[in-house]
Amino acid sequence: DKEGHRHFMAKEIHEQPEVIAHTISRYVDPSTKTVRLPNGVFDFAKLDRLTVTACGTAYYAGLVSKYWFEKWAKLPIEIDVASELRYRDVPWTKNGGALFISQSGETADTLAALRDARANGQQIATVVNVAESSIAREADIIFPMAAGPEIGVASTKAFTCQLVSLACIAIAAGRIRGTLTAEEESVLVTSLLEIPRLVSEALKQSDKIETIARDIAKATGIFYIGRGVSYPIALEGALKLKEISYIHAEGYAAGELKHGPIALIDENLPIVVIAPKDAHFEKTVSNMQEVMARDGKALMVSCKDGIAEAGGKTWAAIETPQTHPMLAPIVYTVPVQLLAYFTATTKGTDVDQPRNLAKSVTVE
Ligand code: M6R
Repeated sequence: DKEGHRHFMAKEIHEQPEVIAHTISRYVDPSTKTVRLPNGVFDFAKLDRLTVTACGTAYYAGLVSKYWFEKWAKLPIEIDVASELRYRDVPWTKNGGALFISQSGETADTLAALRDARANGQQIATVVNVAESSIAREADIIFPMAAGPEIGVASTKAFTCQLVSLACIAIAAGRIRGTLTAEEESVLVTSLLEIPRLVSEALKQSDKIETIARDIAKATGIFYIGRGVSYPIALEGALKLKEISYIHAEGYAAGELKHGPIALIDENLPIVVIAPKDAHFEKTVSNMQEVMARDGKALMVSCKDGIAEAGGKTWAAIETPQTHPMLAPIVYTVPVQLLAYFTATTKGTDVDQPRNLAKSVTVE
């Protein structure tokens, strides 16, 4: 049941405030502003390395978590796509933990990587949406996420719920390892509790994004750039757009543009700049200006202040609520999802069942 929406993808995008709140409630005690983890999780104090493995969008959730585990838990972390990790000679550590992220819990490569990690003595945990899946069954520890059934092939609410789970795990890991103070935890939890409302706010830009998408639909290529925690969101934005609109899209770390991709910039190439107001804002803006100096069409995604400060000469801007800078990816995912969705509906593609793709990839 699409509940009045044209596509499951639209329904799932709009469900995010609710399912994110559900996922938060699985981890957070709002009265004490602390994160609780299920019993029997990794011994984070002893863990010497965390290896995070996934495919596609779930992999990008893992990439965001790298910044969180490093910053809050000072935990050495390795992240790779399952189809690569499996065939590498990973020097597994003695007290290593392996974390697998999957919506379906049936992705063949991720499952095979899990078995490989187990054979190498790692403790196995998963952030998985489908509780009765193969990956859930084979893991020692299941970190909950509460996205509910996701039907659209393009993953949306599962991604933001994965991010919430991972943020909570990283916060708790920081507390356990003594690298995050009680006060820092309380600030992060308070910000986390605001996320559902901010995601609702971000959804209000739908009409504006639909208008912008009419132009994007005419493009033959599009770039997305971001720095720090916004870099994986650039990758996710590009993946979402290519999956359902069939437009060639690439995501780059903003600082990498001038190492090659900038050669492709001209007046026909829109470039989506994910630029929340954080420590990287000025640098990202200067990358955006380099693009504009070459006649690229910059679409700035930032908060009100960010747009007021640097959005003046951009081709277009999408206002997105300001949040804790480290948690911005959860909110900044919404505009890139909507942009992909409306670009696809403008082009009239089969949004929920894009060509050549399956909801879960059970072949290696
Ligand atoms: O079910 P999984 O999370 O393991 O699936 C992983 C990828 O196949 C999946 O995220 C894919 O990239 C989506 N179609 C992205 O929208």
